[in-house]
Amino acid sequence: MEYLQLSNGISIPTQMMGTSICDMKGKKAELFALLERALIYAAQTDTVGFDTARDYANEPLLGKIFSKMYRNKIMRRENVFITTKVGNGQQYLRNMKHEIDLSLKALKTDYIDLWLLHWPLPDYWLDNWSQMQDIYKSGKVRAIGIANCRERHIEMLKQAHLPMPHVIQIEYHPFRTVPSFVALCRKEKIQLEAYSANCLMLPFVKGNPTLNELAAKYHKTVTQIIMCWHVQQGVIPIFRSFNPAHISENVDIHKFTLTDEDMQRIFALDRDYKFHPESLNCPGY
Ligand SMILES: NC(=O)c1ccc[n+]([C@@H]2O[C@H](COP(=O)([O-])OP(=O)(O)OC[C@H]3O[C@@H](n4cnc5c(N)ncnc54)[C@H](OP(=O)(O)O)[C@@H]3O)[C@@H](O)[C@H]2O)c1
Repeated sequence: MEYLQLSNGISIPTQMMGTSICDMKGKKAELFALLERALIYAAQTDTVGFDTARDYANEPLLGKIFSKMYRNKIMRRENVFITTKVGNGQQYLRNMKHEIDLSLKALKTDYIDLWLLHWPLPDYWLDNWSQMQDIYKSGKVRAIGIANCRERHIEMLKQAHLPMPHVIQIEYHPFRTVPSFVALCRKEKIQLEAYSANCLMLPFVKGNPTLNELAAKYHKTVTQIIMCWHVQQGVIPIFRSFNPAHISENVDIHKFTLTDEDMQRIFALDRDYKFHPESLNCPGY
C-alpha cells in the first residue's frame, strides 16, 4: 500500500475500503460473515484503510472482526487505518467526548485514525467541530475531518477562527469533480477523500464509452481506470465491495499510469452528478 501525508504529518493510505451496508436488518450472522470475508480478503490484498460510520450501525461488528484478525495475525492494529464518523443523531446531543468513547469501545481500539463529522449539520456542526479539537489533542484520534462539505463550510470555519480539517470526504468521481472546491482544499492543505468513488458502478458508468475505450487501451477494467484516475491526482478513493474479485481488481492499479491527456478526458465527463441527496440525509443542509 502506498501512503500520503496529512497536514499534521500522519500517513494515510492512498485507497480505502468502505464498509457501509444497510440492507441486512435482522441478519447479524450473515452480515458478520460477509464483512469478515471481505475484510480478510482486503487485508490479504494489501488494503489497510477501512471507512465506517456510527450510522452504518456496524462499528461493533467491525470491532469484533478486527480483533479476531489481530488475534489471528492477519493484520496488526498499528498497520490498519480506521475511519469512523459521528452522525447527525449524535450531533444533536452536542457531547463529542461521549461519542468518541462509544466508537472506541465498539471498535475495540484505543484510538481512531480519522474521525469525521458525517455532515455539517446546521446549527450544531461548528460547536461539535470545536469539541472535536479537544479530542484530537487528547490523542484518541490521530486526525479529524468533515464529510459532505462545500465552500461555504470552509468559509464558516474561517469566520469562526476554527482549525481546518485534515481531511474532507465528499462524493467525488468522474461524473462529479467540483473543480473549485478541490482547488480550495488544495490551497488549505486539506486531503480530499472520494466517497462513492466508482459512482456505484451505475449502468451509465459501466457503459460509458470514454471509460470503456480507456479500459481497452490500458488492458484494464473500467473500475481500475477510475481508481487510477483518483490516486494519480492525489485524491483518496473509498470503494465498497464485498466481492473478492472486485476487491482485487480495485486495488491492482499500481502498474500503469494514465497519460495527462487521458486524465483530462476523464475530467471532461463531469456533469455534477450526485447520487446521495443532501437534503434527505441532512435536513436544513
Ligand atoms: N461520508 C458519506 O456521507 C458517505 C456516503 C456514501 C458512501 N460513503 C463511503 O464510501 C464507500 C463507498 O461508497 P458507495 O458504496 O456509495 O459507492 P461505490 O464504492 O462507488 O459503489 C459500490 C458498488 O460498486 C460495486 N463495485 C465495486 N467494485 C466493483 C468492481 N470492480 N466491478 C464492478 N462493480 C464494483 C459494488 O458491488 P460489489 O459488492 O458486487 O463489488 C457496489 O455495488 C461507502 O462504503 C462508505 O464507506 C460515505
